[in-house]
Amino acid sequence: MTNPPFVGPDLAVRILEATDEAIRLASERLRAGHLVAFPTETVYGLGADATNDDAVASIFKAKGRPPENPLIVHIPGVQEAAKLARFDDRAERVAAAFWPGPLTLILERTPDCPISSQASAGLSTLAIRAPDHAIAQSILQGTARPLAAPSANPSGRLSPTTAQHVADGLGHAVSTILDGGPCRIGVESTVLALNGAVPTILRPGAVTRDALVKVLGTPVDILAEKTDGHPVRSPGMLASHYAPRAILRLEADTVTSEEGLLSLGNVEPPGAAITRNLSNSGNLAEAAGAFYACLREIDKTGVPVIAVVPIPGHGIGAAINDRLRRAAAPRA
Ligand code: TXA
Ligand code: MG
Repeated sequence: MTNPPFVGPDLAVRILEATDEAIRLASERLRAGHLVAFPTETVYGLGADATNDDAVASIFKAKGRPPENPLIVHIPGVQEAAKLARFDDRAERVAAAFWPGPLTLILERTPDCPISSQASAGLSTLAIRAPDHAIAQSILQGTARPLAAPSANPSGRLSPTTAQHVADGLGHAVSTILDGGPCRIGVESTVLALNGAVPTILRPGAVTRDALVKVLGTPVDILAEKTDGHPVRSPGMLASHYAPRAILRLEADTVTSEEGLLSLGNVEPPGAAITRNLSNSGNLAEAAGAFYACLREIDKTGVPVIAVVPIPGHGIGAAINDRLRRAAAPRA
C-alpha cells in the first residue's frame, strides 16, 4: 500500500469486478486508509475507514464536499451500531424492522464513539446505516471497521448507480471501484432523525413515512414540509443538490424540440430532442431504479433544459420528487 489516500489524476482508475479477491483487496486498501467506491442497494458509496481522520478528510477532498455536510457511517448491523450511537427504543424498533436496508438513523454519538468527528461534521449526532447489499456487507466484514460512505459523486451532482457513473465523476480521485452492476433501488436511503422528540424524515427514500409510522406507532414529521421556522438540522440538505448540468423544468405537460424529456408511463408529450421514460408501465420502483441513469443520459446530449412530467408522490415517488426539487433548485 504505497498510494496516498488521495490519488492524483495520473493514476488510472480501476473498475474491478467484485470477486472474492477484489473484495479482499478493497478491504485491505480501506484498512490502510485509502478510498474505495462500492455498490449498495441505493447508490454507489465512496468508502473510507470512518475511524481514520485522514481517510475521512480524503472523502471530503475527493467530492469537493463542504466540511459542514456530515457523512453516513455504514456498519453490518445493529450490534456494531450500538457501540457508536445511543440506541433508544425507537431506534431498536426501526432497525429491527428495516435493517439491513435503505434507512439511515440520526442518533446521539456514544461518549466513547471512535468515529472521526469530521465524519459527523463536529455534531453530537451520527448518521448510521446497515446496507442490504452482499458486496457492501462483505466489505464491511472484510475491513471490520465502520465505513463512512457518501454517494460516490462530486458534491452537488447526480448520484451514481453504476460503477461507470463513479468513474465518470470521481475517476481522478478514487483508484478502486468495485463493480456490482446497477443499484437495485436507485435513490439514496431515507434519513430519519431520532435525536429529537418527534421522529423526523430529513431525506425521503425507499422506507416511506407510512412504513415508519406503522413500526413506531407515533407520528413522523417530514423536514421539507415544516413551515414553522424549525431549525435546519441537516445542513447538507437544503441547497441545490443532485443536479445535472441542464436546468430542470418540473411538472411539464409539453416539451420543445430544444429540450430533453424525462417521462413516465404513458405520460410522454411528443417533440423532445431526446426522451427517456423512467418506466413504461409507470411503476415507481422501476422509475427510481432508472432515475439517475436517465438524467445522466439526457444531460450528456447537452440540451439546456430537461422537462420532467409530473411524478406521483406516493411510495418511493416522494423520494423521486424530493430529488427533482433539489435538482431544480437555484444553483449557488
Ligand atoms: O443511500 C445512501 O444513504 C448512500 C449510500 C452510499 O449509503 N449514501 C448517501 O450519503 O447518500 P450522502 O453523504 O450522499 O448523504 C448523507 C446525508 C446528507 O444529506 C447529510 O446531510 C445527512 O445524510 N447527514 C449525515 N449525518 C447527519 C447528521 N449527523 N445529522 C443530520 N443529517 C446528517
Ligand atoms: Mg450524496
